Amino acid sequence: MEERIKNLEEKVKKLETIQYLTLLLNKSDNLKEILDLFLDKCIEFTGADTGSIMFKDEDSDELNFVNYRGFKKEKIDSIKIKIGEGLTGVVFKEGVPKIVNDVSLNPFYIPLREDIQSEVVVPLFCDNKIIGVLSLDSKKKDAFKEEDLQILITISNFVSLILNKIELYSELEDKIKLKDLLIDLISSLEKSFELDDIFDFIMKKMSENFGIARGMLVTFENEEFNVLSVKKAFNISEDEMQRGIYKVGEGIVGRVVKTGKPISIKNLHEEKEFLNRMQIKRSKNIPISFIAVPLKIEGVVIGVLAVEKKFEDEKTLKESEEILVILSNFIAGKIRNINFLIKERENLIEENVTLKQELYKNYSFNNIIGKNKKMMDIFKLVQSVADSMASILILGESGTGKELIAKAIHYASSRRDGPFVSINCASIPETLLESELFGYKKGAFTGAATDKKGKFQLANGGTLFLDEIGDMPLYLQAKILRALQEKEIEPLGSETKVKIDIRLISATNKPIDLWVKEGKFREDLFYRINVIEIKLPPLRERKDDIPILANYFVKKYAEKNNRKVRGFSEEALLILQNYKWPGNVRELENIVERAVLLCEGSEIGIEDLPDYLRTEEDLPELHISKWIEKIVNNPTYENRVYDFIIENIEKELISKALLKFDRNQLQTSDFLGINRNTLRSKIEKYGI
Ligand SMILES: Nc1ncnc2c1ncn2[C@@H]1O[C@H](COP(=O)(O)OP(=O)(O)O)[C@@H](O)[C@H]1O
Ligand SMILES: [Mg+2]
Repeated sequence: MEERIKNLEEKVKKLETIQYLTLLLNKSDNLKEILDLFLDKCIEFTGADTGSIMFKDEDSDELNFVNYRGFKKEKIDSIKIKIGEGLTGVVFKEGVPKIVNDVSLNPFYIPLREDIQSEVVVPLFCDNKIIGVLSLDSKKKDAFKEEDLQILITISNFVSLILNKIELYSELEDKIKLKDLLIDLISSLEKSFELDDIFDFIMKKMSENFGIARGMLVTFENEEFNVLSVKKAFNISEDEMQRGIYKVGEGIVGRVVKTGKPISIKNLHEEKEFLNRMQIKRSKNIPISFIAVPLKIEGVVIGVLAVEKKFEDEKTLKESEEILVILSNFIAGKIRNINFLIKERENLIEENVTLKQELYKNYSFNNIIGKNKKMMDIFKLVQSVADSMASILILGESGTGKELIAKAIHYASSRRDGPFVSINCASIPETLLESELFGYKKGAFTGAATDKKGKFQLANGGTLFLDEIGDMPLYLQAKILRALQEKEIEPLGSETKVKIDIRLISATNKPIDLWVKEGKFREDLFYRINVIEIKLPPLRERKDDIPILANYFVKKYAEKNNRKVRGFSEEALLILQNYKWPGNVRELENIVERAVLLCEGSEIGIEDLPDYLRTEEDLPELHISKWIEKIVNNPTYENRVYDFIIENIEKELISKALLKFDRNQLQTSDFLGINRNTLRSKIEKYGI
């Protein structure tokens, strides 16, 4: 009875130990801590004297001690146990636990201590694979019982579960770390479009976090000849890189290109297919893994991303390969975008050229309208001097086309690809004009927060158009003269001079030659800017151009505004032709633009023109024409239209002329160019 109670008590104690142990074990993620606890508790409850845990060596068929109690370190270090050797080696090999009650009788036993009599060995599993063994020893014979073994197996299985969990954890942790790394990498490179930077950054990060020793990007050198070469490299010398030439199908890189599938090699030194084209010297004693993955754009292989990594087992290698595939996809995507950008840039340049050509067309002489003799002479002159460096002064009232001519000259000259910079000297406050023209250095005056280039500098290589130069203050005239003579300028607040290469065109609507005489404009500057003078006549002096100009503007604005307007009614054109046009072509253009918008039919009529054009005193033709129209359309005048109209006009004319000469008939008849008798008879006829 006593015996049974004692037994039961012992059993309860053992069960408690297990419970306690499992609880403790479950709390820790630290492998060393778990193994310590495991070994101590197993020794404690079996009453063993010594014990050890062994795991299989990764790279050989030996078992290594990872933990032990009761043995000397020198002894442990001196002993090598192979799988299948000794009791532990056999248990590892067979995966079945064993109890030996008298070691002296067991042929497999390898003594670690002279005084050991019995031993129990249990296999340890992780992920259903044997990874090691637990062994406990005692100085007593028959120390271990069958029921101890059962408990040991239970605990061992439990430890196996925990090992599994730790393994999974660390794997997961690695994966999470890697995922973070990839996310970090990809987002850092989001805005990068330099392949060099992208590759270098990826390699650097991967060598820091991923154990990459070397890396390279291989792409087609010449697709026709199936030749690939190393374009980017990490930890590979320039010379080695030069030697990296591959053909499709040749070696590992060539095979990846051919198959479009990744290839991973566990140990490069053992791979016969590895060509080492680059003749990189690697120590034969250090195994190294190699992974090559294809770079694909829309399914087409354009190259290979390959890396060398610290030696890896099959499983890790496969995972590394997956990472590399992600990276190569990323790089391929970047290459695609870069190519796209290059293409886009080319398109833009092309577009720019077309735009420029359009610009040339816009400012070509074809768009300067005029058949008037004076204008034709001007066109001839302008074309002959356009492609020279000669300074040109364009004179003419406002709106006569001075700027238009200036631009046409620029775009007809060999400087057409350089800038056309214009500045209106009349519209800029005098205080700012100087800095606008010559620029300034940062801090030259309060408010000069940065350097600013002046128009002279901006026009470098092109044409500077000084519009309304007549309004230039005298002190600036001197400065401009100096700039033109010395071909260099000095920005405000700067000590250094800047060379300028410009062609100067000036314009003014002021009587500048008169101003020169009056001393309001410097004579020396006048001669400098006036190598060639172009005088644009006011529009009222080239009335013959009004219809073509007006029709040209109708076409321009009808197209621009999507209108069906084609031209003018006769009367409307008459109005335009007889108006004085103080605002010249600009005014005409504005009025036609407005009329096109107002016009409801296909022809611009008087009603589409502003009233002030019509009420001009010197537009008798209009009143007469309107009046004649009324008569012609009025049936009451039938049969006597001619007489009625002529008589009315005659009567009006004679009375006006008489009025002009105070009814002096001799002067009046001379003025009208008719016979005095005829005049007298008409005065009687009309009763004037
Ligand atoms: N001969 C012309 N043919 C076509 N358009 C002209 C002509 N002359 C002037 N223009 C137009 O008239 C407007 C005023 O011309 P612009 O050169 O600015 O005159 P300015 O500089 O003499 O004041 C511009 O829209 C210009 O295109
Ligand atoms: Mg102008």
